[in-house]
Amino acid sequence: MKDSSGKKTMYLVLLGAPGAGKGTQAVVIAKEFKLPHLASGDLFRQAVQKGTKLGELVKSYMEKGALVPDDVTIQVISVRLNEPDCAKGCVFDGFPRTLEQAKALDKALAERGKALDKAIYIDVPEEELMKRLGGRWVCRQCQAPYHEVTSPPKTSGKCDRCGGELYQRPDDNETTIKERLKVYFAQTTPLLDYYQEKGKLVKIDGKLGIEQVSESVLEALGSAKVR
Ligand code: AP5
Ligand code: MG
Ligand code: ZN
Repeated sequence: MKDSSGKKTMYLVLLGAPGAGKGTQAVVIAKEFKLPHLASGDLFRQAVQKGTKLGELVKSYMEKGALVPDDVTIQVISVRLNEPDCAKGCVFDGFPRTLEQAKALDKALAERGKALDKAIYIDVPEEELMKRLGGRWVCRQCQAPYHEVTSPPKTSGKCDRCGGELYQRPDDNETTIKERLKVYFAQTTPLLDYYQEKGKLVKIDGKLGIEQVSESVLEALGSAKVR
């Protein structure tokens, strides 16, 4: 898409349940199209780790698997969107998650003379999501996701990309995973219709292996790699 000054831009949203592979595919898209990766969950986890005011505020919601209030989330994303690297586009991962957030994103982009290109929905059956989250390990430094079965790191406990320590997210326990799924079905799935009606929804079969899913995603985005 082009912005109001005629410059080419690419703003993408990744939709999908917890464990669908949003973070995994966002990294691939960001690399292929040289776009920043904006993951609301990562921004919140960094704030918790640093012990900032925002971190204190969001911690209890994240621990329970509940959503952080819309006003806080929208504010955090708007601030990030103002940074110069987002002027040509970005990949949103985990945002928006409510209709209010989706409308706020449309407005925020419009105010900057930009518009969303596509909402990529990674569709994965529920029983597969549990397996993916149960075996996930994440890099403490760069947040790259690994899986003990499907994508183990080269050296156990260490990130391939940055050498950082791998850990299991505190919200990846069975009780909290179930709550996150419940919240997803209640509050986030209405976004599928929202983007479908705008003609922006692209559905991807997310059951396949990581590389096959990447290929479908890149193909849907018109990457020269898969043409
Ligand atoms: P967030 O961090 O966004 O978590 P989530 O939505 O629950 O999603 P995940 O990060 O768990 O899954 P993913 O889709 O990224 O999967 P991944 O690629 O890692 O949010 C956390 C919390 O923050 C929320 O609960 C909420 O409290 C708060 N929050 C965040 N955003 C918010 C917002 N907008 N509004 C309000 N609150 C917000 O993959 C999972 C695993 O599967 C990995 O191990 C990976 O290696 C493996 N895998 C990936 N793809 C495949 C494949 N194709 N085949 C086999 N294995 C695969
Ligand atoms: Mg993620
Ligand atoms: Zn790392």
